[in-house]
Amino acid sequence: MPSPPADPRPIVDLVKVTKVYIPDIIALQNVSLTVHSGEILFCTGMSGAGKSTLLKLICCLEAATKGVVEVAGHDLAKLKPAAVQQLRQQIGVAYQDFKLLPRQSVFRNIAMAMEVVYRPPAEIRERIMELLEILHMAKLHDKPAGKLSRGEQQRVAIARAAANSPTLLLADEPTGNLDPEAAGWVLDLFERLRAAGSTIIVATHDRQLFAGSDHRVVNLHQGRLTEWLSENGSMAAYGATLN
Ligand SMILES: Nc1ncnc2c1ncn2[C@@H]1O[C@H](COP(=O)(O)OP(=O)(O)OP(=O)(O)O)[C@@H](O)[C@H]1O
Ligand SMILES: [Mg+2]
Repeated sequence: MPSPPADPRPIVDLVKVTKVYIPDIIALQNVSLTVHSGEILFCTGMSGAGKSTLLKLICCLEAATKGVVEVAGHDLAKLKPAAVQQLRQQIGVAYQDFKLLPRQSVFRNIAMAMEVVYRPPAEIRERIMELLEILHMAKLHDKPAGKLSRGEQQRVAIARAAANSPTLLLADEPTGNLDPEAAGWVLDLFERLRAAGSTIIVATHDRQLFAGSDHRVVNLHQGRLTEWLSENGSMAAYGATLN
C-alpha cells in the first residue's frame, strides 16, 4: 500500500473540470482529482492526452472552461489578479519547454526566481549550489543556459522550479531528455522536496519514472482521467514491474 500522505488536506482539488481550447479542442473532459498535501503524484498518458493542460490550469496559466479548480483552498476562478500572483509564488513550475534565458548563466537563471521573492544573496548562493550538487551540475553554474545540452537545460529548469522550496511543484515531462541515471537525480530531488513539505505533481510519458515507486499514478486518456493500471492489471502504485 502507498504510505498515507503526511498531511491529508487537499492542496489541489479539481471538480468536474473541462478545458476547451478555442474553437473546439477538448483537452480535458470532466476531470475530478484531489491531490493531498505531501503527495508525489504522477500523471501519465499519451501525447495530447491533456497532461500539460492539467498543470497549466493548476498554475493559473489557463482557465477551466467548466468545473472548479481549487489550489490551497482557493477557487481560482474567483481570485483577483493580485491574489493569483501571490498564490503563484507558492507554485514552482518546471515547464515542458524549460523557458530558460539562454544568454544568462545557469546560476542567474535560478537566482532570478529567488530574487523576486527577496531571498538574501547568501541564501540564494547556498541554495543554488545545493540544488546543482543534487542534480550533478555544480561545475556548470556559470555557463550560459543556451550552451547546455537539452538534458542539462532540463535540470536547470527543475532546479529553478525547486529553488524556493515551493508548497506545490509542477513538473512537466521533467525527464524527457534525461538518461535513467539523471532521471534518478531528479527523483532524488523530488523526494527531498517532499520530505521538506512540498507537494509534487509530475506529468510524464516515462513509465520507468514511477515503476516500482509507491506514489499514486493517474492516467489521462483523451482528456479523461482514470486510475493507471499496469499491463498485468495491477495498480502501478502498488509496485508492479513494468516492461
Ligand atoms: N494553446 C492551445 N491551443 C489549442 N489547442 C491546444 C493548446 N494547448 C494544447 N492544445 C491541445 O490540447 C490537447 C492536450 O494538449 P496537452 O499539451 O495538454 O497534452 P499533453 O498530454 O501534455 O501532450 P504531450 O505529452 O505531447 O506533452 C492536444 O490536443 C493539444 O493539441
Ligand atoms: Mg505536455
